Amino acid sequence: MKIIAGNSNLPLAEEISTYLKVPLADSAVRRFADNEVFVEILENMRGEDVFVVQSTSAPANDHLMELLIIIDALRRASVRRITAVLPYFGYARQDRKPGPRTPISAKLVANLIEAAGADRVLTLDLHAGQIQGFFDIPTDNLFAAPVFVDDIKARFNGQDLMVVSPDVGGVVRTRALGNRIGADLAIVDKRRERAGESEVMNIIGDVTDRHCLLVDDIVDSGGTLCNAAEALLNNGAKSVSAYITHGVLSGEAVNRVNNSQLEKLLITDTIQPTEAILKSDKFGIIKIAELIGEAMRRTTDEHSVSSLFD
Ligand code: R5P
Repeated sequence: MKIIAGNSNLPLAEEISTYLKVPLADSAVRRFADNEVFVEILENMRGEDVFVVQSTSAPANDHLMELLIIIDALRRASVRRITAVLPYFGYARQDRKPGPRTPISAKLVANLIEAAGADRVLTLDLHAGQIQGFFDIPTDNLFAAPVFVDDIKARFNGQDLMVVSPDVGGVVRTRALGNRIGADLAIVDKRRERAGESEVMNIIGDVTDRHCLLVDDIVDSGGTLCNAAEALLNNGAKSVSAYITHGVLSGEAVNRVNNSQLEKLLITDTIQPTEAILKSDKFGIIKIAELIGEAMRRTTDEHSVSSLFD
């Protein structure tokens, strides 16, 4: 087994390597003067089972290109098998045509990864489970739920918890986490009653005097999350925290969360947290390296990955 890291999240790749006791393979991912990506694998790779760890987080296009070029270099180095390990799969939100003459970019990115030469994909909390079907190669979609459960038990022990999906699209994910911790489910239903009127947030479920945990796959601008937290508190919730797998946190998102009524936002480190996130008391980082590393070990040993979630 060999592990190669792109530049998107080196600390995570190093933690995975430490967990697996497999050093990161010697490679160089550099730029030409015009910013073209250049990759050189500096050790023999013939016949190896290789895992390329790279989140396609911001700058998404650069990190995607790095991933594709690393895979190409490996294929030409006669490796036995290449698994693209995408702790965060960028472009996943573009998984359908929102209108006429628009792309399905998640499918295009899946095609690119396959065309580059990946034999398998390992990822975590895909925006929609059916994106697995965009790949014609085996694709394992891990869930952050077990690490969230451990954190919830340690942090909110004994509290009367309710899990809340911030939109209708996230109900399945939220219910699954609720079932693991024995918590009831509520749903924030965003609706624009009439064109030109602002959105109304209806809460499905009684959140009065409950400690609410919002659950989502992505926090990007923070709008969905902060608005949902406000709506829950307006409807009588005692407190609102959130568990979100991928902290995309673009633009002013960190400030927005810092100034929000959220008590705590827990994210994993599938995307490398910035200094601003690490310094903020509102944020907590849940380490994901062991879960991903264990799935990699099971992949290389040809053992069950799904049993990680039993
Ligand atoms: C949308 O369907 C996703 O699950 C997230 O709710 C969304 O990407 C969050 O985006 P933002 O933080 O910009 O509201």
